[in-house]
Amino acid sequence: MSNEITPSKITTDEQLEKMRRDWDNRARQNARYFVDTSQTSWTDDEFFASGQRAIEEDILTDMTNICQGKDPAAMRVVEIGCGAGRLTRPLSNVFGEVHAVDVSGEMVKRARAATADRPGVHIYQNNGCDLSVIPPREYDFAYSAIVFQHIASREIIESYVREVWRLLRPGALFKFQVQGDVNVQTHPGDTWVGVPYSEAQARALALRCGFEPRHFHGVGEQYFWLWFFKRAQQ
Ligand SMILES: C[S@@+](CC[C@H](N)C(=O)[O-])C[C@H]1O[C@@H](n2cnc3c(N)ncnc32)[C@H](O)[C@@H]1O
Repeated sequence: MSNEITPSKITTDEQLEKMRRDWDNRARQNARYFVDTSQTSWTDDEFFASGQRAIEEDILTDMTNICQGKDPAAMRVVEIGCGAGRLTRPLSNVFGEVHAVDVSGEMVKRARAATADRPGVHIYQNNGCDLSVIPPREYDFAYSAIVFQHIASREIIESYVREVWRLLRPGALFKFQVQGDVNVQTHPGDTWVGVPYSEAQARALALRCGFEPRHFHGVGEQYFWLWFFKRAQQ
């Protein structure tokens, strides 16, 4: 975790490989704990109820921004870092199609098992930095929670933001969470403590990648939420 010994210099490819390996190990050790560290052991009911509460808070209270008048059952959405499917399952109660990626094949196995009864859910193992595994169609909304706070590379996070821009329809929202505590210390190759963003850095990221950064919540905190709306032109 944060005190893991990691080399001070690491290439992006090595960083991605380490992410996959570390998250596979965490999944084998205790997937649900590493997904949500508030409990060491989770029953199915407890685990998916915690996901349901998060979706109620993040999604169901924000349907005007997210749906923009569209019927959620007709919406196609992207989730980055689905873990063991804790949020994917309740997302599929709201939206018609959910396309979710995770860098860890072990997490992907668990997410697929958790959503096997959901024909609208598609789970892909990706390379940890782009969305090329997702069919190149137009998506209506993208979401990511408790994932970028574990990514120690601004380059990788920015790659995801550009990839979401590529997949979303103009005007659609990418709602996601990053680490907002700028005093947090991380280093290249850390796969637990991610790079922090100030409000100014988050705003600049949006503008560089073709988004309008319309709202922020939790500036300076671990749960720093960003509302990026896709501009028609980058
Ligand atoms: C703390 S878990 C959260 C899972 C899920 N979002 C939830 O809240 O239930 C973080 C997840 O992000 C995944 N992850 C970490 N780095 C990633 C990356 N670069 N690309 C895709 N997934 C990543 C991990 O494999 C892990 O499943």
